[in-house]
Amino acid sequence: MRKKISIIGAGFVGSTTAHWLAAKELGDIVLVDIVEGIPQGKALDLYEAGPIEGFDVRVVGTNTYADTANSDIIVVTSGAPRKPGMTREDLIKVNADITRSCISAAAPLSPNATIIMVNNPLDAMTYVAKQTSGFPKHRVLGQAGVLDSARYRTFIAMETGVSVEDIQAMLMGGHGDEMVPLPRFSTIAGIPVTEFIAPERLNAIVDRARKGGGEIVNLLKTGSAYYAPAAATAQMVEAVLLDKKRVLPCAAYLEGEYGLNDMYFGVPVILGSGGVEKIIELPLNEEERALLQKSADAVRSTIETLKTL
Ligand code: 2OP
Repeated sequence: MRKKISIIGAGFVGSTTAHWLAAKELGDIVLVDIVEGIPQGKALDLYEAGPIEGFDVRVVGTNTYADTANSDIIVVTSGAPRKPGMTREDLIKVNADITRSCISAAAPLSPNATIIMVNNPLDAMTYVAKQTSGFPKHRVLGQAGVLDSARYRTFIAMETGVSVEDIQAMLMGGHGDEMVPLPRFSTIAGIPVTEFIAPERLNAIVDRARKGGGEIVNLLKTGSAYYAPAAATAQMVEAVLLDKKRVLPCAAYLEGEYGLNDMYFGVPVILGSGGVEKIIELPLNEEERALLQKSADAVRSTIETLKTL
């Protein structure tokens, strides 16, 4: 039986995710939005690209959650994006309400699905999704580390002039400006990145990666990034549906790992058909631990804010 992927939110991130997923032929796609006509129009348009591009999946748009029933994956992209000058945390109230309403409508119809959260503030919205769905922790996770490390890898490629295909880069922490790119765990074809890039240039790259989302918001002025966020989401969906056991940084629910409890936070995980099958604990040095703690404090404070809303 074909897999079913429901994407909630037919804005730029949702529809671009549908596009990458259709191209990968990972399963039939249901695009959901509250705005009448938008999911239907975008889904039909994408479906009609199939004969040209040669992908063979059904793509359906709807305003009705019943159409998402029995999904294998639920991706949540709905919510307000940032505008210039805003932090991801500024979106908390409006997006928490939207997340609760989407998850409470979608989760009971697909009790065996894996939920992948994409809206911001990412770690807190993933926490809301777990609370609202009641799903086990390994089946609720957040995209962000894949996106953030892709940005970091791109900047390393730009600096060194080597292929992005040969760059592996690990990054941890919350999806905010305190995230922690880890040069010590980043390589070019297995060679430490520190062999290629001088420390001050590497620091500048780390800083740019941290602020990578804001850089796009400032350029676009009317919204936030969508190609790379959508590609990152599609890679996570692929890892789950094809049981690939990919090692990717994702927002996972922590219960003691890295000394953190009852929060979602970006950590390296093994991602397969069981969702987050394992959290990998890296041997961090003192400086890395301190940076991680700062990022954890920021995420913790956003999650605490949630409780006051
Ligand atoms: C980003 O970093 C939208 O948070 C997303 O681009």
